[in-house]
Amino acid sequence: MRNIKSIIGNNMKIPVFDLKRQYEYLKTELDSAFTNVFESGNFVLGENVRLFEEEFANYLGAGFAVGVGSGTEALHLALKACDIGLGDEVITVPNTAVPTISAISSAGARTVLVDVTPDTYTIDTKKIEKKITNKTKAIIPVHFYGHPAEMEQIMKLAEAHNLRIVEDACQAHGAQYNGKNVGTYGDMGCFSFYPTKNLGAYGDGGIVVTNNEELYNRLIMLRNYGEVKKFTSKIEGFNSRLDEIQAAALRVKLKHLDTWTNRRREIATLYQQLLFNSNVQLPCERQWAKHVYHLFVIRTNRRDALKDYLQERGVGTHIHYPIPIHFQEAYEKLGYKAGDFPISERNAGEILSLPIYPELTTEEIETVAGLITEFQNTDL
Ligand SMILES: Cc1ncc(COP(=O)(O)O)c(C=O)c1O
Repeated sequence: MRNIKSIIGNNMKIPVFDLKRQYEYLKTELDSAFTNVFESGNFVLGENVRLFEEEFANYLGAGFAVGVGSGTEALHLALKACDIGLGDEVITVPNTAVPTISAISSAGARTVLVDVTPDTYTIDTKKIEKKITNKTKAIIPVHFYGHPAEMEQIMKLAEAHNLRIVEDACQAHGAQYNGKNVGTYGDMGCFSFYPTKNLGAYGDGGIVVTNNEELYNRLIMLRNYGEVKKFTSKIEGFNSRLDEIQAAALRVKLKHLDTWTNRRREIATLYQQLLFNSNVQLPCERQWAKHVYHLFVIRTNRRDALKDYLQERGVGTHIHYPIPIHFQEAYEKLGYKAGDFPISERNAGEILSLPIYPELTTEEIETVAGLITEFQNTDL
């Protein structure tokens, strides 16, 4: 058997994310797009934003898209667009990124948590109904790691209880549920363009997509001081706009998204094959799902030792996320306690995100998988 250390050598590093590789690949296209923006002298709500909104909406098959400042802002403004605020409850999951929850708080509403399923890491739809009260106004399903939530059941609950559905698709650009893009099932779909996302900007950015023209018109006002026209505010709004530089970069990158998604799926398949006989729990892809593998998350009860083992050998990993929402000091106020969400709590101690990005080479994937297998044979 090959000695893994000899493959890595002394300097070989496999970072968990590597944005420089993608920039090198797109440098000519991107630099020219940036120069065009600088020369135009127009940096906020110009042609690039308008065209990107159109292109992204078309890409997903949505009627409208509104570029905003970040994924967090996309969620916040989506809730505001539905008039959700003080006294209202919004249901979501405890194992999400903190911004899902801070968006609910910013809108003034209260977060109600429901645990996830053990294999998809998305909301357990069987547990939602008993959390619905007469204050519940919306559900935010999170398409976590790039795997869609069970939208059919969620839409049935929405209809039965007259709830809004705001999809948190911040990790799931191009993921599909039953052949249809996530973000287009609910009232609105929210995406992040944080640099490491499957479609990432060179700074912060986000977008809300919707098929509802009334919500679209409200979002247009909400992101820009509530204005219907210059210096005329119809509703109370914010400053949360995607800027021209980011939109120009995103227009370049959107053309590559499908190729990148295919490569992510190929990498995932390779990891699955190489780790098939290992004793780590591998990600699942339900038969109704198209997973876009924003993250490739394995589970093992020797997580911390494995993380250190990989780190010492030049392989970066991350934990998404180490502290469930109800254990965060900022959200003690939600009133939950240990044991309330056993799946999310167990996962937080066992999950590990391996490197996965389109530019990762097959040799690097084999190295990572080889080290995991090697680790298993140690008694660390
Ligand atoms: C699931 C989820 N929701 C919301 C967000 C917030 O997005 P942003 O960082 O663009 O504000 C992120 C990204 O960090 C995320 O992963």
